[in-house]
Amino acid sequence: MILSTEYQQRRQKLMKTIGKGVAIFRSAPQSVMHNDVEYVYRQESDFYYLTGFNESEAVVVFAPNHKEHQFILFVEPKDLTKEIWTGYRIGVEDAKIVYGADIVYPINELDEKLPEYLVTGDRIYYQLGRDLYFNEKIISHWQKLIASYPKRGSGPVALEDSNFVLHPLRLVKSEAEIAMLRKATEISVKAHQRAREFVQPGRYEYEVQAEIEHTFRLLGGDGMAYPSIVASGENSCILHYIDNNRRMEAGDLLLIDAGCCYGYYNGDITRTFPVNGEFTPQQKDIYQLVLSAQLQAIEQVKPGNTYNQFHDKAVEGLVEGLKELKLLEGDSKEIIEGKKYEPFYMHRTGHWLGLDVHDAGSYKKDSENWATFQVGNVVTVEPGIYISPYIKPVEGQPEIPDYWKGIGVRIEDDVLVTESGNEVLTIGIEK
Ligand code: GLY
Ligand code: MN
Ligand code: MN
Repeated sequence: MILSTEYQQRRQKLMKTIGKGVAIFRSAPQSVMHNDVEYVYRQESDFYYLTGFNESEAVVVFAPNHKEHQFILFVEPKDLTKEIWTGYRIGVEDAKIVYGADIVYPINELDEKLPEYLVTGDRIYYQLGRDLYFNEKIISHWQKLIASYPKRGSGPVALEDSNFVLHPLRLVKSEAEIAMLRKATEISVKAHQRAREFVQPGRYEYEVQAEIEHTFRLLGGDGMAYPSIVASGENSCILHYIDNNRRMEAGDLLLIDAGCCYGYYNGDITRTFPVNGEFTPQQKDIYQLVLSAQLQAIEQVKPGNTYNQFHDKAVEGLVEGLKELKLLEGDSKEIIEGKKYEPFYMHRTGHWLGLDVHDAGSYKKDSENWATFQVGNVVTVEPGIYISPYIKPVEGQPEIPDYWKGIGVRIEDDVLVTESGNEVLTIGIEK
């Protein structure tokens, strides 16, 4: 659980970073599944990170330079008739008590009140791009303040994307966030264990999916962190295969990429194993080389190493392995620099993990340099080899014999950067 004091610390850090600026975040809209049926609501992650507030039709403003109010919340007011249909809303009075805002207004007063806060800032921090309607609103308020600037001599003169001030904070997880990630990964591990016991030839991919997602909810998770991938046979060569409708057969590999969301934090795990418990010799070769590349890559996740080092290590391992199997040939450096391995491995080796599965935060320090791992970062390590039936080797590389085709293997774990190196959070599932 994330305590209200932690949300407060996050807001204080943000306000310290923006100094005399004003930051604005809008809640995620309520998405519609079809007609008047709505999806389960999911707050926008930046908004949630700063408030813990999970209602739509809300705006939060941070104005550290305002005399009275630094944390300002706009929410939908209570409306009991509406709430009978769409569920409880906290309303203006209780939102102030529960979320600790300096002041809470009904959302329909946004246009009237916003300029009072915007004018206290020397710049506006806001993420353009997500929401065209709201972008126009912010720009129009800003333009009015620019027009009146000559008479006032103050107000926001620039607009900066809030990602650049907030996402570096989200990149380093607190103890409480790590506890949430432990819970999300623990449930994800149990779901994978259950899937493994359940799988046998003759069962359908969707039956395995049902076992996994059943476990997520049964153990108190919110549900899936992303659509579960249950990919048998040659489906394992499709990176984001989510049809999950094939009958599994003896001799197939099964690739399961599934993770649980728990209190907005996400697990992300992939395991690949034979449906009947026995690898064919070719499957075993590919599996061993991916596993070895993954273990070597995980060793590179430690404070001070750059973000690219574990990817480079994985690529080196995969290329050496593919050369041994005569699936690639030539000088390793040339293969890597010329990206000649890409027909087999076309994605990067991981991503930040947290409130978003592909979490916020930059992978680069600047155009030349990769980010450096810091204690508290959480990253996935997920190399793979995919030998699609339609694979086309790059020019000059060997043709692929048919007996390799249809084999797809990915192994993915979630790794926390610690003082002494790293800790794999997703332990307890065979690999
Ligand atoms: N399951 C999405 C990913 O591994 O990135
Ligand atoms: Mn995954
Ligand atoms: Mn992943």
